[in-house]
Amino acid sequence: MKKKNDLIIKNLFSINKKICVVTGASGSIGKEISKLLRLNGAIVIRIDKTGKENLKKNYFKADISDIKKIKEIINQIYKKYKRIDALLNIAGISENKNYLNNIKINLISAYEITKLVTEKMVKKKKGSVVNFTSLNSEMGFKNNPGYVASKGGLKQLTKAFAIDFSNKNVRFNNVGPGYIKTNMTLKSFNDPIKKRERLNRIIMNRFGVPNDLFGIIVYLISDASKYVTGQDFYIDGGFLAKGI
Ligand SMILES: NC(=O)c1ccc[n+]([C@@H]2O[C@H](COP(=O)([O-])OP(=O)(O)OC[C@H]3O[C@@H](n4cnc5c(N)ncnc54)[C@H](O)[C@@H]3O)[C@@H](O)[C@H]2O)c1
Repeated sequence: MKKKNDLIIKNLFSINKKICVVTGASGSIGKEISKLLRLNGAIVIRIDKTGKENLKKNYFKADISDIKKIKEIINQIYKKYKRIDALLNIAGISENKNYLNNIKINLISAYEITKLVTEKMVKKKKGSVVNFTSLNSEMGFKNNPGYVASKGGLKQLTKAFAIDFSNKNVRFNNVGPGYIKTNMTLKSFNDPIKKRERLNRIIMNRFGVPNDLFGIIVYLISDASKYVTGQDFYIDGGFLAKGI
């Protein structure tokens, strides 16, 4: 017989009516994830530096390094919904010609926006932050030290926040996509040599697609992961697990 505390999968993984803030929401991954969250009942607030602002559709055009504007947006969202359940830090750049810009956007801006949103989550003693890291958080890759350093730093930032906010029931975790076929990886996908090099490393022998990331996101923002914080989840078709 079912007891009061028995967990029911439908409720455990529910994201229905969760207030989710997504940065990088116009990008390949952010757009797909925002759509899937909405289709599954979440209320999604999208932020990106590109696209056309549409406040009725909860789309804010903003650069995440413009901290003043981001603060206004977060305050506006909190005023409207009275809570923020999840923050997905998906906005990111990979600029091999500008070392500092990678650090500025992928690490410093992610830090700033996370602080602002966490302030709101703390008031409700509940929240989940998902930072988008990378294989570059674990391994070195050539010709892009700024990106590698920024994603390595972000991975650790998640763990630091997980500790600082543990007593407030705000959880922080990393999702590291492997080679997902997006604008960011198009060059290596379209170059036969680079593509083969990468496929040789991927156990599942294919590039991922943005919706391959959805399952872990549902897990991390739902109650199914209520005892999970400070962790790294690599959704990479087995890239990091493969030897020779
Ligand atoms: N595609 C992959 O295989 C892959 C692998 C590992 C990690 N990632 C990470 O996943 C995230 C999404 O990647 P993607 O492939 O969808 O990239 P993408 O370039 O398609 O999307 C990134 C989005 O972030 C937005 N953005 C960038 N800087 C911003 C800023 N300052 N303010 C607001 N918005 C900004 C861009 O406008 C864009 O819409 C990134 O953080 C990336 O580092 C991607």
